[in-house]
Amino acid sequence: CGIVAYVGGRTAYPIIVKGLQRLEYRGYDSAGLALINSEVNVYKCKGKVKDLENHAKGKSISGSIGMGHTRWATHGEPSDNNAHPHVSQNGKFIVVHNGIIENYSHLKKELVSRGYTFQSETDTEVLANLIENIYINKEVNAEMAVRLALTKVVGAYGLVITCTDEKDQLIAARKGSPLVIGVGDNEYFLASDATPIVEYTDQVIYMNDEEVAIIKKDKLTLKSIQNDALKPKIQKVDLTIDEIDKGNFEHFMLKEIYEQPISIEDTFRGRIAMDHSKIFLGGISDVMPQLSQARRIIIAACGTSWHAGIVGEYLFEEFARIPVEVEYASEFRYRNPIINEDDVIIAISQSGETADTLAAIKMAKEHGATIIGICNVAGSSIPRETHAGVYTHAGVEIGVASTKAFTSQVTVLTMMALLLGKTKGHLKDSVYKELINELTQVPDKIRAILKAETDIKQIADTYKDANNALYLGRGFLFPVALEGALKLKEISYIHAEGYPAAEMKHGPIALIDENMPVFVLATKDKSYEKIVSNIQEVKARNGKVIAIVTEGDEVIKKMADHVIEVPDCHEAIAPLLTCVPLQFISYHIAVMRGCNVDQPRNLAKSVTVE
Ligand code: G6P
Repeated sequence: CGIVAYVGGRTAYPIIVKGLQRLEYRGYDSAGLALINSEVNVYKCKGKVKDLENHAKGKSISGSIGMGHTRWATHGEPSDNNAHPHVSQNGKFIVVHNGIIENYSHLKKELVSRGYTFQSETDTEVLANLIENIYINKEVNAEMAVRLALTKVVGAYGLVITCTDEKDQLIAARKGSPLVIGVGDNEYFLASDATPIVEYTDQVIYMNDEEVAIIKKDKLTLKSIQNDALKPKIQKVDLTIDEIDKGNFEHFMLKEIYEQPISIEDTFRGRIAMDHSKIFLGGISDVMPQLSQARRIIIAACGTSWHAGIVGEYLFEEFARIPVEVEYASEFRYRNPIINEDDVIIAISQSGETADTLAAIKMAKEHGATIIGICNVAGSSIPRETHAGVYTHAGVEIGVASTKAFTSQVTVLTMMALLLGKTKGHLKDSVYKELINELTQVPDKIRAILKAETDIKQIADTYKDANNALYLGRGFLFPVALEGALKLKEISYIHAEGYPAAEMKHGPIALIDENMPVFVLATKDKSYEKIVSNIQEVKARNGKVIAIVTEGDEVIKKMADHVIEVPDCHEAIAPLLTCVPLQFISYHIAVMRGCNVDQPRNLAKSVTVE
């Protein structure tokens, strides 16, 4: 979900609507806003921000204090009633909330016994009523009521609250769900991330867990939930307005696919010596002793980042000879896993906010392990919990389906594995340098692949009506098969599965007929002959083969229905190249099927709930 709020001298409405649009990638099943004036107006509805704008048309939109919310449903289906803001029963408190109040049913029961009734199924309305109940019974001010209520709450929240008796201020609170305060001239902005703020100010404060901010147009007070005064730390935000604009591209996803040569360069900028002889990763230099002596590396992540993690597993085992386990953060954290002090946990997360990944590293930290983050969003929660880390510097990624963040994560993992291999003495200097050299050539090689968009679009056209698709790969390219399949299902709603090519015969082969497109990652590497056999197995059953091959491959060209060529490279580098045509395939199929590419149904970019 996304939150945006404003306190200052301007009309809040346009700032909030525009901010919500910027945050829509975080969730978009319903939207709402509250405008605070001499009176308070709350508008909310199921649907997107543009539905909210239509809903507000012709109604009063004055007020220079306000808050807005765009929702990704957790408690209660997307509906007008379940949309935020939520107003407490006696109309005293208005609340927008990200996260989950885990003990909400217990709190709700108590409130019901005190005569409260509820309009929605949300945990947020429970919180609004809890605050109001404390405010009325204890006769405290709004801020104190909020703080007292929060001591009773179990769960995660980013909150913006206003009290109708104290209309000149907003109260914000954070625990586990991000909130950024933008500091302007006699005005303040609040949002789940900096994207809605950067067009007004580059001065921001990232709120920490268990902090409460009381914000008037000319005054910001920061304190802990326990009422200790805190000093706000103002930072310059590292984000420009161009980065959050689609430019001439039809969708953010397409823009982000095209940005990859630059985003990958940004990932290794300053981290590779000019003569390609060395890798520097300043962010993990302090933990290099732990990393190089690690008994085991555990990679914890979700979604696309988990796929990058599997590429990491192959890289670390190949070059650094350290055993690696790749874990879905959500499974790992609930499994009572065995974690030792000489384990290193690497958390991979674009947003740095994924709730399960965050919880997984907190748990591993308690067991004494060393925690390293590979994240894209600077200052987000995961990097703040880690002992060390490497930012991917891919720039803002807005399309829900991750593209450039993935290739940047793989770039960081490649650099880490090479550095570690070198440090541990497993990599010969010549091989180390050769691989660094290969890595620096990736941006140009991707530029060459991007030129094939029109041809790839034609292939997409051939398979746009498929109901199922299979993606096969071996070795370093197995995770690319998983990622290719995920991209297709996320945005085009075609059922797709990624499989290790050899496993096909243990199940998926039963699905193959003349209607089944099979995308095969078949660049030249040590399992090339084997993948050629897998292609023949598919063809023998009349499946359609779309093969991603190394430039000039004449053998597969004769067998496959279509080939997409990528430049020759070392097999460890191939994931970075071969994923790009698959991004194009998914993108174009989704566009041809009329799907909302940047905002696929039911998904959210940043999953801050568990
Ligand atoms: C969501 C997004 C995915 C992303 C995953 C993990 O499911 O839709 O694109 O891969 O979360 O997100 P993270 O920010 O931790 O990489």
